[in-house]
Amino acid sequence: MSTSLAWDERYAGGGFQFGEAPNLFLLGQAHRLKPGMRALAVGDGEGRNGVWLAEQGLAATSLDWSAVGLEKARALAARRGVALRTVTADATRWDWPVAGFDVIAWIFVHLPLEDRAIACAGAMRALAPGGLLLLEAFTPAQEGRRSGGPKDPSLLWSRALVERHFAGLDVLELLEGTVALDEGPRHQGQAEVVRAVLRRP
Ligand SMILES: C[S@@+](CC[C@H](N)C(=O)[O-])C[C@H]1O[C@@H](n2cnc3c(N)ncnc32)[C@H](O)[C@@H]1O
Repeated sequence: MSTSLAWDERYAGGGFQFGEAPNLFLLGQAHRLKPGMRALAVGDGEGRNGVWLAEQGLAATSLDWSAVGLEKARALAARRGVALRTVTADATRWDWPVAGFDVIAWIFVHLPLEDRAIACAGAMRALAPGGLLLLEAFTPAQEGRRSGGPKDPSLLWSRALVERHFAGLDVLELLEGTVALDEGPRHQGQAEVVRAVLRRP
C-alpha cells in the first residue's frame, strides 16, 4: 500500500527519484502557460515540476503528503532561485481552494479508487474558469514493464477514467499510448501512459 511514510523512505537520501528536470509532457505544454498564473503541482514529490512552473514565472505550489520530498523541493527551489510554496497534505483530505488555480499539474499520481474520486473532485473545484488540468499517468498496459509505475493495477489510470473523473472539462488533448521515459532512476524506458490537457469552461 502506498503511504506517506513509504514515500518519505523513498525520498530519504541523496538523488532525485524522478530527476530534477521537469516531466517532458509538462514541458511540452509550456506554450499554454503565462507568468502570473497560479499553478498547483499535486503529488509533486521532490518538486521537479513545481520548481519548473515557478521558473516559468507562475505562482507555484507543490503539494505532497511526503514532508521529506517537499523538503527537497524547497531546497531545489532555493538552488534555482525561485519561490515555491509547499503544502504537506494528503490530497484526499486537503481543503482544495475553490477556483484557486489556473493550472493543475497531475503527473504520475496514482491513487486508490475512492481516494482518486475524492482528489479529482477537489481538483475540479480548485480549477478556475479557463484553468488547465495537465495529467500524465500510467495505464494498465504498463503492467509487466519495468519503466516505473505502481505494482497495484487498481491505481492505474486510463483515458476512460480521465473522462469519468474530469467530466465537464473541455478536452484539448487526450491520448493513450507508448512514450519513452527518462526521468531519474525510477522512470526509465518505454512506458504506457495516458496524457491529458483539459480546460475548465
Ligand atoms: C510517482 S510519484 C510522482 C512525483 C512527482 N509528481 C513527479 O512526477 O516527480 C507520486 C507522488 O504522489 C504522492 N502521493 C501519493 N498519494 C498521495 C496523497 N494521497 N496525497 C498527497 N500526495 C500523494 C507521493 O508522495 C509521491 O510523491
